[in-house]
Amino acid sequence: MTVPADKLRAALSRRRNKGLPDAGTNICRVADGDGDGLPGIFIDDCDGRWLVQTQDVPWPAWLEETQSAAGWRALWWKRLDQQVKEAPQLMAGDDAAVFMVRELGLTYELDFRAGYSQGLFIDQRVQKAWTQQTVQPGQRVLNLFAYTCAFSVIAAARGAVTTSVDLSRSYLEWGKRNFARNGLDPSAHFFCKGDAADWLRRFAAKGRTWHGIVLDPPTFSRSDDGTVFRVEKDFPALTAACLRVMEPGGWMICSTNHRALPDNQFLTLIRRGAELAGRRVKCEPGAMPPDFTGEPYLKVWRVIS
Ligand SMILES: C[S@@+](CC[C@H](N)C(=O)[O-])C[C@H]1O[C@@H](n2cnc3c(N)ncnc32)[C@H](O)[C@@H]1O
Repeated sequence: MTVPADKLRAALSRRRNKGLPDAGTNICRVADGDGDGLPGIFIDDCDGRWLVQTQDVPWPAWLEETQSAAGWRALWWKRLDQQVKEAPQLMAGDDAAVFMVRELGLTYELDFRAGYSQGLFIDQRVQKAWTQQTVQPGQRVLNLFAYTCAFSVIAAARGAVTTSVDLSRSYLEWGKRNFARNGLDPSAHFFCKGDAADWLRRFAAKGRTWHGIVLDPPTFSRSDDGTVFRVEKDFPALTAACLRVMEPGGWMICSTNHRALPDNQFLTLIRRGAELAGRRVKCEPGAMPPDFTGEPYLKVWRVIS
């Protein structure tokens, strides 16, 4: 075995010691760059289909020799250092690109041909587990920047009525399929296409409120009318708008993967939002899952008020 293959074997054994994968979760990170002594190589095991993401290193061809030891059924490659964000390409093994995975006992559709993102952000597993433990039947949960609605599925499976907001109609349709895959009727929930800040204004005008809110925007986005969103500039106003529709005693998960924004500055943006809304808040830190052994790029705070 080559040296990187030894590192991979050690990385896999570390995950097994942490209980991953398990009966409820068959998607996890099995190699996290420097965190596993494999600089520039990030591997997610998606029920045996490995998504290999590389940053400034060529295709790690040695992986192709690890099939019998590691047990993967396919290798897909995505480059993180490209100007053009491309879908992964198949490098070895079976070519099924659309398939189901399990996370925290729930089922989600992945699609390796869908583009740069494959359907599930597995770095949010700790926040999803917290949501699963916290949501009570009958509560209302608002999921902003919902993508394929993973947080909504979690809350709906706990008996909440969810509202998912996203700019992309096709992601919301994907989200509805995720509901159906879990035996949840999407027609009993709300799916709102459009800009999150716009929808928050409309919700506030109608007096709609939620007990729990998930606020996980991209670092930068441009909505259909050209409005630009930047975390550093816009997070306080967005936090304030969320707090205005949050019930007393409610919670909000605030998250960003903006690497250049230090965690204490992110917390300052959240606190500024609470001041704007005139709301007293308690902020508790979230976390990244234990299989993410490399750079702790995700910043997460749970805001209770
Ligand atoms: C980082 S993903 C959110 C991931 C999601 N929280 C999860 O854990 O699955 C960002 C999402 O925000 C959506 N988006 C971007 N700009 C938006 C905007 N201004 N209003 C609503 N959704 C937006 C994108 O379409 C994308 O689905």
